[in-house]
Amino acid sequence: MDKIVIDGGVPLEGEVSISGAKNAALPIMAATLLAPGVHRLHNVPRLADIRTMKRVLGLMGVTFEESGGLMGPPLPEGALLVDTSNLTGWMAPYEVVKTMRAAVLVLGPLLARAHQASVSLPGGCAIGARPINLHLKGLEAMGVKITLNQGYVEAKTKELKGAEIILDFPTVTGTENLMMAATLAKGTTRIVNAAQEPEVGDLASFLVALGAQIEGIGTDILTIHGVEALSPAPYKVMSDRIEAGTYLAAAAITKGKVAVTNAPVAHLTAVIEKLHDAGVRCATSGDRIEVQPGGGLNGADIKTLPYPGFPTDMQAQFMALMSVAKGASVITETIFEDRFIHVGELKRLGADITISGNQAVVRGRRHLSGAPVMATDLRASASLIIAGLAAQGTTEVHRVYHLDRGYANLVEKLSALGARIKRVPA
Ligand code: EPZ
Repeated sequence: MDKIVIDGGVPLEGEVSISGAKNAALPIMAATLLAPGVHRLHNVPRLADIRTMKRVLGLMGVTFEESGGLMGPPLPEGALLVDTSNLTGWMAPYEVVKTMRAAVLVLGPLLARAHQASVSLPGGCAIGARPINLHLKGLEAMGVKITLNQGYVEAKTKELKGAEIILDFPTVTGTENLMMAATLAKGTTRIVNAAQEPEVGDLASFLVALGAQIEGIGTDILTIHGVEALSPAPYKVMSDRIEAGTYLAAAAITKGKVAVTNAPVAHLTAVIEKLHDAGVRCATSGDRIEVQPGGGLNGADIKTLPYPGFPTDMQAQFMALMSVAKGASVITETIFEDRFIHVGELKRLGADITISGNQAVVRGRRHLSGAPVMATDLRASASLIIAGLAAQGTTEVHRVYHLDRGYANLVEKLSALGARIKRVPA
């Protein structure tokens, strides 16, 4: 187990390039099951969760190539060949799903390809119960027989059929599972109240590249006309809006001058708007966002909402920023019922935060003070890193394996921006 040690107080300077989006790459990798053959994916981020998804798919007979070729010359950085020609299984076991709940994304594709799946129910998670009832209800509407047996979802169908599905909540992976299943169903499926997160759109674009017929991409109503078969296609994964937002917050809290490049600017509107409200000037041009040191930070309220609202995956990072802003800010978390675990750790750094239900009131302090803290989930660990970059003295972030799940080369990228940061054995 490693820890990350930061000596805070250095304004970040320079340029940082954003990697491929974890939450687009994961469903896209699962979707390769729908089209037997070799898929050439580009801009796949080098993350622990990607390695876990490879393990899950590998258990079903899927093979991969990352360096030399299944064919031809070495592959460029971030390229991944996925060969789904031979499916030898349809099970996602507990020991894998418990480490990464996104493994449930194999449900839809397996039912479409093999008409069966045995997937461990994802357990609870640090940020909430996170059930998958809406995934299962939608699949049942498509003719899938679901039984729960010793912690596993046993799913079988003679034939997937098109259905009208109205989601109680715009679940991101729920929308993705149902959309993937619908691509090879008999007839048309309409998903109403579908998630509109850009990563859902990126998956939809990949499915269309495979030959799927999908209307309404980017809206809350997806219409999928089932087709007979899909075939492999090359695809470049979109860049990661949450990684980009994290570096914007890191630049802002250190009063630095940083250009974030390869950024999906159009998907960051709510985040840039809120940073602006907090006094952070972001100049955008093309896929580049430049944070300029301006006046001080002032408190700004946020409320997390489904896209295009402020993303819940940026809530912890923004809270760290607000902990040193002038005045107070009210942070309302509406997506997950328990996504304030980072509050206790931020308070160890001197933050003044009071929780009441799904709201946290942050009263900005002049500065934070370094201390040992513990990461509890992916985005909470990012918020502790951000706070440590600004805190006076040394901050040690423990259990950094959480970070490895969603941030490629974080220490290298921050060091290149001038941060005094290193990763050492705990
Ligand atoms: C996706 O999780 C993301 N993960 C999460 O990112 C992200 O925080 C979340 O969407 C919200 O944007 C991936 O895409 C791999 P949901 P997901 O289903 O799909 C409730 C990160 O840091 N719900 O949209 O699991 C659920 O309990 C991760 O990268 C049901 O009640 O989120 C939650 O309260 C963290 N029943 C809310 O909906 C269901 O069947 C949102 O869940 C499904 C969801």
